[in-house]
Amino acid sequence: MATPYIPIRAHAPLEAGELGLSYTPEILFTGPSDSSTILIVDDAEINRRMIRAMLQGGRAGNSKQYKLLECRRPSEALSIVSQEKVDLVICEFIMPEMSGPEFCQRFRANKKTYLTPVLMLTSVQGSEHEIAGITSGADEFLLKPLQPAVLRARVTAMLRHKAAIDSLEEVESILFTLAQTVEQRDHYTGAHCQRLATYAVAMGLRVGLPREQLLALYRGGFLHDIGKISVPDAILFKDSLLTQDEWEVMRSHTWRGEDICRGMKSLAPVLPIVRNHHERWDGSGYPDGLVGDRIPYLARILQIVDIYDALTTARPYKPALSHAEALGILYEEVKRGWRDPEMVRQLQDVFDNPPPEMREALVSPSLNSMSQNVSK
Ligand SMILES: [Fe+2]
Repeated sequence: MATPYIPIRAHAPLEAGELGLSYTPEILFTGPSDSSTILIVDDAEINRRMIRAMLQGGRAGNSKQYKLLECRRPSEALSIVSQEKVDLVICEFIMPEMSGPEFCQRFRANKKTYLTPVLMLTSVQGSEHEIAGITSGADEFLLKPLQPAVLRARVTAMLRHKAAIDSLEEVESILFTLAQTVEQRDHYTGAHCQRLATYAVAMGLRVGLPREQLLALYRGGFLHDIGKISVPDAILFKDSLLTQDEWEVMRSHTWRGEDICRGMKSLAPVLPIVRNHHERWDGSGYPDGLVGDRIPYLARILQIVDIYDALTTARPYKPALSHAEALGILYEEVKRGWRDPEMVRQLQDVFDNPPPEMREALVSPSLNSMSQNVSK
């Protein structure tokens, strides 16, 4: 079935009113879930019972009904969080097997739980313990004896923060799924995005980009063509030359994609990639006709790996070219003035001498190892 054509109206992001949303119920975004799950980790039964009573207590009409899980050992806690969605962990500073800070470090190293808040409790006086707890990844630190109202207030605030993060993650997850759907519609497979992310991050590692920019490249690998969702099938899959008007629609996927991603602050570093990945070194690209160094650096990286992947992958209408053939075409395009010469040399260098942390991923770009390190 043909995708409905969304006509171009104005180069501006949609406002809530345009979507027919004149009222945004704040309660949907500001409160913790009614069914938040809290995991209490403490080897002393009396302590767990006390925390449970405090969390289930409160003044009439002000009590919360959390789902409470308990365990005695940090290893049990790590096992529980690998199987269940936990919204908050309350743990002791001193525990068997490993200390609270050691537990926190392991907890934070897990991609599934690195954003789950941890409240650490201790009866040991001394700011050095608090520093150790917070440094290891605990979000809050409370000294015993606990004040029930203080504990409840901290827990409520931490769960509210967690709910906001969950909401953002959901939106981001929807965008990524949408982006992959677009790629599949464009006769690519989901692996195309993964490869782009792998190649782009490898390029970034080679020149020593900071983690924030590596993350932008990783996300850009998935999101750069998300604006194609607004390009109708009749244009996207046309097997003859596009008319001038059709080209305008096709080119609009750059700024339309930027508009789609602009709503999320966390995607701000990705916006130049989405908007400017079709610029050319000599200024003959689109949408802004930027020249040379004025083309955002991350967009230049993504563009080169996008072209390389398109050349080296088989499509319904063409066979896959070899690595050498693809490089040959890219160097031809350098001669024509279209590509950043340094960027093409950098791509060649990355494949000739892959960064150590990317060696495996570049051979078989499943991204498993890299995504664990970068997509946090
Ligand atoms: Fe594109």
